[in-house]
Amino acid sequence: MLRNYTSTYPITDLSTPVTGTSALNRFASDIADGLNRTLKTTSSKYFYDAEGSRLFQQIMHLPEYYLTRCEQEIFTTHKQTIAKQLADGQGSFNLVDLGAGDATKTKLILQELLQQNAAFTYVPVDISGDAVSELCENLQHELPQLQTQAIVGDYFDALDWLDATTPGRKVLLFLGSNIGNFAPEERTAFLQKVREHMQPGDMLLIGMDLCKAPETILQAYNDASGVTAAFNLNLLHRINRELEGNFIVEQFAHFALYDPQQGVMKSYVVSKQQQDVSIKATGQTFHFNAWEAIHTESSYKFTKQQLHDIAIENGFTLQHIFQDKNDYFADVLYTVDQHDRTEPGLRGKLF
Ligand SMILES: C[S@@+](CC[C@H](N)C(=O)[O-])C[C@H]1O[C@@H](n2cnc3c(N)ncnc32)[C@H](O)[C@@H]1O
Repeated sequence: MLRNYTSTYPITDLSTPVTGTSALNRFASDIADGLNRTLKTTSSKYFYDAEGSRLFQQIMHLPEYYLTRCEQEIFTTHKQTIAKQLADGQGSFNLVDLGAGDATKTKLILQELLQQNAAFTYVPVDISGDAVSELCENLQHELPQLQTQAIVGDYFDALDWLDATTPGRKVLLFLGSNIGNFAPEERTAFLQKVREHMQPGDMLLIGMDLCKAPETILQAYNDASGVTAAFNLNLLHRINRELEGNFIVEQFAHFALYDPQQGVMKSYVVSKQQQDVSIKATGQTFHFNAWEAIHTESSYKFTKQQLHDIAIENGFTLQHIFQDKNDYFADVLYTVDQHDRTEPGLRGKLF
């Protein structure tokens, strides 16, 4: 994990708390927990070390990976309306980019907000210190007039910190189909927790990948040049590097499949032979049968009806759906009702 931030923008690092579990210990215990299950699994949030972030940037430029191009098209086409709606004529606000990555698409909105003279602070949040550091350096060159407060840390550590230190209206961005990585019950838990951090007047703009021809979806996660395979297998390299694992990565393969009934793309790494893998930081050895798989990522796709249902289920009002011309992708603007007077503990359940 990179700790030498060269940016002169303020970067708050919440990933290594003074007390409690360090990020590395949490990584080790999450990996051990996932690999000890009958159906082995790992969290997709651990894809993004420096190498993972670099590979993801390559994925975004792949011909098969339509998601980035579609969201870029949406922002290019609708940026004036989006920026106006986010600024909402209400004075200053914090634009909180949850899982900002390299913020390529967010920059289209940032430029437009600056053009419209909106008063806002850009708050990129990412669990990857490398991603945040690179983004800040890049923003200093590309948008030097931008007011920025970057945060390295988990989504909710960042939202807790913001609530405690930086009051004011919040506009949350959750772009690039990140929401699709959650299973339905995790998605509900995530959105209800986000909702609890929001007040009347706050907004949430979410990127959601829509259901479409299964072949199109499958190819996006199984590209011909093998970049997605390298991205998936990098998780094993990362475990070797950071947790002192001894995965022989060549003995594992990337595998991806799309389930059109559940609307979910699933990625795995499959052990090509029977083997044992030790991970020193966990103090454990994990056994793999031949062709046993680790489920590394789910990516859910949504119907239009679900975009409405998700608002109702989680205490939001659906304000606007922005779409690309092919109907492949949607950026959905949810608001918190100005007249919402529910108690924080009840929020998200009464709509
Ligand atoms: C798929 S990329 C999307 C980047 C960008 N929003 C986009 O649309 O291109 C996901 C980003 O979310 C970050 N991330 C994943 N889980 C996170 C978590 N729990 N807290 C904070 N950031 C997270 C990753 O490090 C990565 O940079």
